[in-house]
Order: sequence, then structure tokens, then C-alpha cells
Amino acid sequence: MTDENVQNYSEQLKELGIEHQILKHPHLVDAEKVQAFLGDDISGSVPTLIMKAGDKFVAILKRGDTRLDSAKLKKVLGADSLRMANKEEFEEVTGVPVGAARVFNPGLVTVLDKNVFEKEFLNGGTGSFTLTIKYKTEDLKKIPDSLVADITQAVGVDVNRRRRIFAGMRPTGRLHLGNYLGSAKGMLALQNDPKFETIFMVVDLHGITTPYDNTAYQENIKNVMRDYLAVGLDPDKSILTVQSRVPEHIELAYLFSTVTTIAKMTHLPTFKEKVKQYPEHSTMALLNYPVLMAADILVYKGELVPVGIDQEPHIEVTREIARRMNQEYGTDFPEPQRFATKGEYVPSLTGEGKMSKSVEGSYISLTDDLQTITAKLAKTPTDAGGPGEVPKEGPVANLFKFTELYKPERLEYYAGLYGQGKLRYFEMKQELAGAIFADLKPIQEKRNQITDEVVEKVISEGAEKARKIASETVAEVKKKMGLI
Ligand code: TYM
Repeated sequence: MTDENVQNYSEQLKELGIEHQILKHPHLVDAEKVQAFLGDDISGSVPTLIMKAGDKFVAILKRGDTRLDSAKLKKVLGADSLRMANKEEFEEVTGVPVGAARVFNPGLVTVLDKNVFEKEFLNGGTGSFTLTIKYKTEDLKKIPDSLVADITQAVGVDVNRRRRIFAGMRPTGRLHLGNYLGSAKGMLALQNDPKFETIFMVVDLHGITTPYDNTAYQENIKNVMRDYLAVGLDPDKSILTVQSRVPEHIELAYLFSTVTTIAKMTHLPTFKEKVKQYPEHSTMALLNYPVLMAADILVYKGELVPVGIDQEPHIEVTREIARRMNQEYGTDFPEPQRFATKGEYVPSLTGEGKMSKSVEGSYISLTDDLQTITAKLAKTPTDAGGPGEVPKEGPVANLFKFTELYKPERLEYYAGLYGQGKLRYFEMKQELAGAIFADLKPIQEKRNQITDEVVEKVISEGAEKARKIASETVAEVKKKMGLI
């Protein structure tokens, strides 16, 4: 029932006298998901961190719900530098893939946090993504070259604290189906779940990193807020405001820029694309874009970010900045994850790339009427309609993707027709246009009722609430960085 490597590892544990039990689960990389499958939360896990302290690697064992205090760990190890091992180092030292580290790593000094022993059993890694080991924690003291020390922050997890969520959209035009399905749907799901405290903004400072019309900007900002309210974001449930009204984002971004290298920023695909698109506009603000985005999320200690798949590289930068700040200054930033929706990648109507505001003819706006939607879909290129397999990419594949998103129950029917060479695109496009409009109509009706006064009130009240949280984080970081 287990793989051979895990069996061998289990034998080693037995030889050391470490009582344990092997548990099986589906292929899962995320420890939280493994724990959920096993019917527990993250406090029942003991993840292994592989770190480089001075010039040697060490294994750190701490409970999943506690935060490492790098200053304490440095002291315990007598090391003057400390960082996480990178992917290559990790794999070389442990012999297993990133995310699957074992609890016992022969040849490494192992530091066990004292909190580990508050629980009788904890689940830890095996080197496999389908197996987890339940360890008797007391026995972990038998790991050779191990020591027990206080290496975590005495923050104590407040189980009642709601996890914070942050996301934003640039006011570069009216929202389209990509923004709606890839991000707004996720925002709504999280807003309506009482486990989360949600903060959503119109990120106007990001919108000025590429050429824009300053005379129409205020109107564009308000239009996005109007769209937010129309899709169902609710100021009674979420903090809703405009990014530049919370100047703490900029302050934190500056502090974050001190732990971010220029090389990292210039290599990001999103930066390269924008420079290609606007060669005259390769500015400092554009280079700093991901750092400001990290500040947006981390100033609220946001843990989940409902955004489309195109934003993944930025979320990765956010995690790296969080890690670096925690290591250098002992802050307690979480490493946020993207919250994905079914529409995490909405394709362009043209058949190439994703739906985007900057590509004319690629998008359907939230404000389009039935006629406009029908006309836009009518223009999308097609083929002879089979017979054969439905293409995997291109305009026809995209029409099928829209069917999957809007008429999933008809997917098989249309694929069947395509297989027989009998697909009439006119019928498919008509049906899709109707379904998309039916989804947008209530949003449009609601939008018409939102006055300028309501929009202004939401923005100014939201800013006040947001600043309360953001200013606390900035003060905490300034203190840790020795600025106050
Ligand atoms: P922006 O303004 O380009 O897009 C807003 C949101 O819409 C999503 N999106 C899509 N999702 C699926 N398919 C598509 N075709 C599609 N097109 C756009 C984007 O992924 C995004 O979620 N950098 C962000 C703004 C930002 C931000 C933040 C987001 C600034 N700070 C902090 C989250 C957290 C952006 O440019 O989004």
C-alpha cells in the first residue's frame, strides 16, 4: 500500500524507536489540504523547513500553526545568517521534492520547537505527496543530532480571527468577463463566507504605471467601484475603497523595496510584456509594480487573493517578500495563496491569448447589452465545424471554453455535433450570447441604481476602516526595522 521509499524511511524510523503510522490520501501538495482530508487543521501538522544557517543546512520542525522567529533561531544556532533553502538546495539536501520534506533528514542538525510537544501526535512529511506519517511527538527527540528549543513567536493563534483577503482591479477601463469570472466571482464567494474578512480596492496607483488619461481617471475609478457594487460586493460585508486613499500601501511598498532585488523584478514576465507593449514607458513605477502589489496584500496580512491565473507570478513575489521580511526582521507576514475560480483564465474572443481590456475585439464588457454580445460573438472566427476532435486551442477551443463556463450542460451536446461534422456555430453562439446576457442583466440593472453619492460614501468609509488596519502593520514593520 505504500511506495518503497516511504517503506524504507519507515524502517529507519523504527530503528530509531520513533513510533509512527503511515496514512494514505489523494495526491496533495498543500499541507492544509492534507490536514483537511485527514479531518484535522494545520495545528495538527509538523512541517519541516530546510534552512541555511551560516554555511550549513539545518532541518527545522515546528507546528503548522506557529511562526518561526528567525532571531531566536539564529541565536540557538549561533549563526549570523539564516535563510530558507532554495529549490535546488532543498532537493539536493533532502532527496525529495519541495513540499514533501521528511521529518528525519540524516546528516542534518534538527531543531525541534518546544511547542511541538504540546500535542501527543502530529502529521509530517514522508517524501511522497500521497502519504503522510502520524508521529508520536515525544519520540521525535530520538532523532540523531536534534535539539529542542524555543524558536517560534509567542503570538498564539487566535482561532477566532477571521482570515483576511485582499484583491484589487486597475481602473483601466470597464470591467469585462475576464475580470468578473477570474476575480470578482472569487471576491464574492469569500465575502459571503463568514470565515473571512474581505478587503477589495480599485488599485488606482497600479493603473498609472502605464499610459492613462488623467482627465478621465476619477470617472474610471468610480466606474470600477460602481461595477464592484453592481456585482454584489457589499460595504456591510467587505471593506471597499480606492488604493491611493490608503497611503500606507505606498509606505510599506517602499520598505519592501529594501528586500527586493532589481534583477528579480526585471525578469518577471509581466514586466517584460509591459515594456514590450510600452517601450517608451519603462519606468521605476512599472518595475516596482509587484512590490506595491505585495504591500497591498500584506499590509492587511492577507492570506488568500482572488485573482486570475495571470497574477500568479505576482503572488509568488508577494510570498518571497513575506518570507524575506520574516527572516530579516522577524515580522509575521503570511505567505498568501491565490484563490482560484472556474474562470481563472477567460480566453479572448479573437482566439488568441486571454480576454483583455487592451485588446479591442477580445472582450465582453459587464455593461454590454444582448445585441452587442451577440454581435461580438458573431465576429469570433470558427472552422467548418468538424468532423473530428474539438481543437485544444484557438478560437473554436475558446467557444467551447465559454460553453463550459456558461452552458456546461450543453458541452457534450456541442462536442458530439462537432464530432459528426454537424455543428452549426450560429446556434451555439446564439445560445452562449443568451446565457452570458442572462448572467449580466441583473448586474446592469443594479448598476443603474447606484448614485455618485453612494459611491463616494463607500470609498471614504472604506478608506477609514482600511487605514486602521494598514497603519498598525506599518507601525509594526517600522519598529522591527529600527525606524521607530
Ligand atoms: P487587472 O486590473 O489587470 O485585472 C483584474 C483582475 O481580473 C483578472 N483577469 C482575468 N481573469 C481571468 N481571465 C482573464 N482573461 C482575465 N483578465 C483579467 C486578473 O487576474 C485580476 O485578478 N495586478 C492586478 C491588480 C492588483 C492586485 C493587487 C490584485 C494590484 N494589487 C493586490 C490582487 C491583489 C491587475 O493588474 O489586475
